[in-house]
Amino acid sequence: MNTAATLKTMPGPEGLFQIMGGFRRLGFLGFVGESWKTYGDTYRLSFGPRNMTIAIHPESVRYVSITNRQNYEKLKSYDAVRHYMLGNGLLTSTGDTWKRQRKLMAPFYTPRGVQAYAELMLRDGERLVERWERIAQRGEPVEIIDDMTYITASIILKAMFSMETSEEIIDLKDSVEIMIGYLSSNQALPFKIPDWLPTKTNRDYKNARTKVHAYINGIIAQRRALPEAQWPDDLLARLMLARDEETGLPVPDDMLRDESITTFFAGHETTAKTMTSLWYCLSKSPEATAKLHAELDSVLGGRTPTMADLHNLPYALQVIKETLRLYPPAPVYVRDALADDTLDGYPIPAGSTILLSPFLTHRHPDFWPDPLKFDPERWTPEREAERHPQAYHPFASGQRVCIGNNFSLLETHILLAMLGQKFAPRLVPGFEPKFEMRGTLSISGMPMYIEKRA
Ligand code: HEM
Repeated sequence: MNTAATLKTMPGPEGLFQIMGGFRRLGFLGFVGESWKTYGDTYRLSFGPRNMTIAIHPESVRYVSITNRQNYEKLKSYDAVRHYMLGNGLLTSTGDTWKRQRKLMAPFYTPRGVQAYAELMLRDGERLVERWERIAQRGEPVEIIDDMTYITASIILKAMFSMETSEEIIDLKDSVEIMIGYLSSNQALPFKIPDWLPTKTNRDYKNARTKVHAYINGIIAQRRALPEAQWPDDLLARLMLARDEETGLPVPDDMLRDESITTFFAGHETTAKTMTSLWYCLSKSPEATAKLHAELDSVLGGRTPTMADLHNLPYALQVIKETLRLYPPAPVYVRDALADDTLDGYPIPAGSTILLSPFLTHRHPDFWPDPLKFDPERWTPEREAERHPQAYHPFASGQRVCIGNNFSLLETHILLAMLGQKFAPRLVPGFEPKFEMRGTLSISGMPMYIEKRA
C-alpha cells in the first residue's frame, strides 16, 4: 500500500487561463487528449477550487469502477444533471435508492428482456427503409443525424409509452433536446447565468421542462384511470406494476416520471450518435463495408432479419463495437471521491472528481495498436478475450454499467442489418464532421447521400 511518503505529485496543465485557452483552441476532447500526451495516463486539471483527476489507464478505470468503487459516487458532479434534467432517476440516484431502482429495472433490460422490443425496432426500421428508398431516388443528401435521432427516439418512446403518432414523438423529442442543450451550455459556462433570470434561454428551458413533465404525468394519470388489464405492455406499465421487494410498495409517481425522462434521455441520443458515427466510419472504410455487405447478403439475401439471423451476423456487431470504440457517445463520465485515496500512485483528496474517458482509453496505444484506424477485426472473439476488460468502456463498467447496453446493441444490430443490406450512405464530398464533447458526444453534422446498393 502507498504511504504519504511514496506518493507522487500529480502533473497537469497549470493556470485557469491556460486551461480555458486550451479548451477554446482544441475543444474539450482535443485539449484533454493533448494534455494526455504531455502528462501521461493520470493527470490533474484544476479550475480554481475544483480539482479533477483525468484517469485514462484501464487499471485506473477498473480501480474506480470496480475494485474500490465504494469510494466513488455520483455526488456533486451530477447535481446539475439531477436538478435540470433527470431528477433522481437511475442514472443520477445514489446509495440505497439506486440499488432498489436497479434491482427493479434490471429484469427489463436483460438480453432476453429486451427481445420484447425487437418487433417495434423492426417496424420502425421498415419505415426508415421506405423513406430512404424515396431519398435515394431523389439523389439529394440528408442530415443523417436527424434520421438517426428520430428513429431512436421513436423506438424508445414506443418501448416506454407505446407512443405511436409522429407529432407526439417529435414534440417530446424536441422538448427534451432543448433541456439537454440548456444543461450542456450551462455546464460549459465558467460563470452561470442564474436560472431565475427571465432570459429567452431560461424561458425556453422552463417551457420545455413543463411540457415534458405534464406529458408524462398525463400518461401516468391516463393509465391509472384504466383497469390494469387495459394497460399497454410497455416499460411504463411494467414499472407501474413492479413492487419493491422489501416494502411491497409500488413506484411513486415522481419516481416514475424521473425514470421515464432518464430512459428517454439515456436511451435515444447515445444510440443515435452511435448509428451516425457508424455510417461515417463505413463511408470512410471500403474494406469494412465490402465485408459487411458480403455478410448481410449471404445471411439475409434481401430478407428482413429475424432474431435468429442476428446470431449469424457477427461482423455487423464487430462494426458496431469498433464504432463505439472510436466514437463513444459518452466520451467521458465522472465520479466523486468520498474519502482520501490513492490512484496510480497519486493522492486523491476526498471531494475531488475523477474523470474517466472511454474516448481516450479507447485510443491508448498500449492496448489498441494503430488506435485511430477503424478496424472491426479487433473484435474477433480471440482478440477480444486477450484484451484488458477495462480497455473498452463505452457503457462504463462495474455495477453502474449502462443498464441499456443490451437494448442499444440489439437496436443498432437490427438497424444496421436492415439499412446496410439495402443502402450505402456516402458522406458528402468535402465535408468533414467535428466530434466534440457537449455533455455527450456532439457531431457537427453528417450530410450524406443515401445510395441504393445494386
Ligand atoms: C450506444 C448506446 C449507449 C451508450 C454508449 C451508453 C453509455 C452509458 C454510460 C457510459 C453510462 C454510465 C454513465 C455515468 O456513469 O454517468 C450509462 C448509464 C446508463 N444508461 Fe446507457 N448508454 C447507451 C444506451 C442506453 C439505452 C438504450 C438506455 C435505456 C434504454 C440506457 C440507459 C442507461 C441508464 C438508465 C444508465 C444508468 C445506469 C445506472 O447507473 O445504474 N443507455 N450509459
